[in-house]
Amino acid sequence: MSALLEIEKVSKVYPVKKGFFKREDFYALRDVSLSLGRAEVLGVVGESGSGKTTLGKLVLRLEKPTKGRILMEGVDVFSLGKEYTRRVSVVFQDPRNSLNPRMKVEEIIEEPLVVHGFKDRKKRVKEAIDKVRLDDSFLGRKPDDLSGGQRQRVAIARAIVLEPDIIVADEPTASLDVSVQSEILRLFEELKDDGIAFIFITHDIRVVEKIADRLAVVYGGMLMELGSKDEVLRSPMHPYTKFLLSNVPVRHPRERREENYTEVEYTVPQRGCPFAPRCPDYMEECSKSVRRYELNGRIVNCNLY
Ligand SMILES: Nc1ncnc2c1ncn2[C@@H]1O[C@H](COP(=O)(O)OP(=O)(O)OP(=O)(O)O)[C@@H](O)[C@H]1O
Ligand SMILES: [Mg+2]
Repeated sequence: MSALLEIEKVSKVYPVKKGFFKREDFYALRDVSLSLGRAEVLGVVGESGSGKTTLGKLVLRLEKPTKGRILMEGVDVFSLGKEYTRRVSVVFQDPRNSLNPRMKVEEIIEEPLVVHGFKDRKKRVKEAIDKVRLDDSFLGRKPDDLSGGQRQRVAIARAIVLEPDIIVADEPTASLDVSVQSEILRLFEELKDDGIAFIFITHDIRVVEKIADRLAVVYGGMLMELGSKDEVLRSPMHPYTKFLLSNVPVRHPRERREENYTEVEYTVPQRGCPFAPRCPDYMEECSKSVRRYELNGRIVNCNLY
């Protein structure tokens, strides 16, 4: 059976202006392949500018890949109609921007049902708001009268009201206080148990430590490493993953991994490894090409292997 979602060798190129006449291709994503299974949580982790949101936008069909394809159950998502938007929804980082301040909570949650022509809307809105643990009194309020956590619950209710198969969650807890973050993460865990798959985007690996089944580590628009969460966290293979983990304050000092890396501004090279300028294991070939290592679903794009 084909995967729920298959991202096949996807690149996204943006033309960027260099001076008056010159334009250059900028690779926001380069040759990325990933899959997502039913009710699976795929954590996509990487620092700012690594291409995470671009990947999310492509999956949401907000942008088209320059190269490669995205398939749902074996069918190119750009050939699917409105049904795709019913099956794939989104939760963004900041609900302040993603919720229309003029609409009441009830209208916000109901809107996707109207777009998709559902009749039993009241019942579905009620189920969605119950699921995110807000009581009915919230239905008449507007986003400005809610706390950040409550607003994110409304955004989640809107995202689940059409009973999607996939939610793209782009830094959904980054704008929230730590205590609220964990409540929202628990809610996502429940939704996962209900059978929803997630592409869970974050710059902070700790956020997905619990919820993710697999982790995709991205840098400079490229997939660096992919594997089960435990494999990637316990035995990272790519020097960039090691770097990322060494920067995570871990609970016990014994667990901390110390690595020496230099901080360098980077632009994504069109060939070779984007991490090459910062990599302690740099070899000459890294500026030209990257070898792909694959074993039992673990993928590492690095010339060390
Ligand atoms: N429309 C665009 N035109 C030109 N460049 C773009 C465009 N959208 C994104 N980029 C560039 O692509 C790169 C990846 O951006 P993206 O937003 O996907 O990163 P990100 O990993 O989500 O970062 P962050 O953690 O800061 O949200 C960045 O260098 C960004 O400037
Ligand atoms: Mg982003």
